[in-house]
Amino acid sequence: MKKPYVISFANSKGGVGKTTSCISVGCALAAAGFKTLLVDLDHQGNLSDDVGRGDENYTITDLFEDPKFDTNSLVYPALDGTNVIPNLDVIPADITLAVEARSAERFRHRLNILEEGLKRLKIAYDFILIDLRPAIDLSIENALLITDKLVVPVDMDRRAIKGIDDLFQVVREVRRNEDFVYTLVKTKVNESHSKMKKAIDGYISEANYRVALTEIRQSELFKQATDVHRPVMHFAKNERPYRDYKSFTKELLQQIEEAEGGKK
Ligand SMILES: Nc1ncnc2c1ncn2[C@@H]1O[C@H](COP(=O)(O)OP(=O)(O)O)[C@@H](O)[C@H]1O
Ligand SMILES: [Mg+2]
Repeated sequence: MKKPYVISFANSKGGVGKTTSCISVGCALAAAGFKTLLVDLDHQGNLSDDVGRGDENYTITDLFEDPKFDTNSLVYPALDGTNVIPNLDVIPADITLAVEARSAERFRHRLNILEEGLKRLKIAYDFILIDLRPAIDLSIENALLITDKLVVPVDMDRRAIKGIDDLFQVVREVRRNEDFVYTLVKTKVNESHSKMKKAIDGYISEANYRVALTEIRQSELFKQATDVHRPVMHFAKNERPYRDYKSFTKELLQQIEEAEGGKK
């Protein structure tokens, strides 16, 4: 497998489970022994908050302010409350990113700031997972250019489906290429809303989107975990969210292995 393998979580719609998926897959990979780095590229910093790093001295803004910045000093161990989560690190973000990503436009190699910065990391990560905000700016373009696989969470709402085409259009433009690897993953799935689910399923199969077999079911535990700023994988170990994301992560790993095998 390519190392580090970069997975970005994106959808043009907010609230679909991008951040939740990014952290949960990260926790599952880390628990399986993969050295994993989470990169928060949303100035709202939700991901940073949920791994206890919402208020740090350094953030990803420092890199976009100074492309030569030592990225090693941006890396913090991810926390569950006060406990360090083994194998899981994070580069946090905060509100300053919103402004800085714009002023970084002045740099000559502006599209490769993130790529070059991550290359300077001393820790050899197996996976780098990037949480994208639902917009397009320089930092997001930087991320899309180094993404090996895109994970697109879609909740059971028609607007999340609409977000897919918008997103894919942007990805093609930024990468100047029709080809990219992605998978949709259904989130907040509630079987009792069967009419809505059928409509969404119908749309996904009609558009012929690649979609993960694992569905992430709706659960109150997600909100409870968010409220206390803890990763749901640790807050509700062995419960439904934990089992769903563990299974989705396994499927992701299989997809990646199969794709890499096919390349030989
Ligand atoms: N499968 C799910 N079931 C119920 N609530 C969920 C689920 N996934 C995420 N949530 C909740 O939905 C809200 C938005 O999720 P989040 O991951 O922040 O979305 P995004 O990053 O796409 O904006 C959060 O409060 C989160 O706890
Ligand atoms: Mg988010």
